[in-house]
Amino acid sequence: MKATGGDDDAKRRAGEHAAGLIEDGMVVGLGTGSTAAHAIRELGRAVEAGLDAVGVATSYQSADLAREVGVPLRTLDDVSAVDVAIDGADQIAELDCIKGGGAAHAREKLVDATADRLVIVADPSKEADRLDRPVPVEILPDARRPVSAALRGLGGEPELRQAERKDGPVVTENGNLVLDCAFGPIEDPGGLAGDLSAVPGVVEHGLFVGLTDDVVVGTTDGVETRR
Ligand code: A5P
Repeated sequence: MKATGGDDDAKRRAGEHAAGLIEDGMVVGLGTGSTAAHAIRELGRAVEAGLDAVGVATSYQSADLAREVGVPLRTLDDVSAVDVAIDGADQIAELDCIKGGGAAHAREKLVDATADRLVIVADPSKEADRLDRPVPVEILPDARRPVSAALRGLGGEPELRQAERKDGPVVTENGNLVLDCAFGPIEDPGGLAGDLSAVPGVVEHGLFVGLTDDVVVGTTDGVETRR
C-alpha cells in the first residue's frame, strides 16, 4: 500500500470508529488509502459477526481489500443510494479536503458525492488551517498541454505525476494522467474547485468542497469528531 505518512494507530482508531457507524441494511462507500483500509477491515469483522451491509469500492485497492475481508461488493448501478461513504484525505481544513494522493480521487468523488453522508477519516497530520498541498488533477491523456496552460492561468504550477516501479507517468485506473498542481495556500477552495472543473480535459480534481459531513481524527487514545 502506498505510504502517505502519519500515525497508523491514529488512522486505525479513526477508521474503526467510522466503521462502527454502519448499521444493518446500509450501502457503504469504501474509500481508498491506508486509513479507509482500517475502516474496511473493521467492516469485514462486523459483517463476519452478522452485520448486513454491502460496499461500493472507489478503487482496485478498496475492492480487493473488501473481497479479502468479506465485505460484499456492489456497483453504483446495483444500488439506489449510498448511505455512508468512509474515505481518507491528504489534507483537511475545516470540512474541505484535498484528496488524490493515490490517484483514486475521480471514483472517490463519484462515490463520496453520491453518499448521503461522507465521513472523512484521518490522523492528526492531515489537519491544516488552510489547504496548501498540490491539488491532484486527473486529465485526459491528450489534454496535458492545454490543461497545463489553463492551470498556469489559474495561478498553479502543474507537474505530471511520475510512476514508481514503471517508466513514465502514472496512468490512473480510468486510463488518464495526473497533474499535481501547486497553488500555494488556497484562499477560496470552492472557487478554485469550480474553476478546475470548468477546464476542458479535466476529468476530476482532488478538491473536495462541500461534500464532507464528519471528520473523524484519530488521537493517541481515541477519536475527535468535527462536523
Ligand atoms: C486516494 O487517492 C486518496 O484520496 C486517499 O484517500 C488519501 O491519499 C488518504 O490516504 P491515507 O489514508 O493513506 O493517508
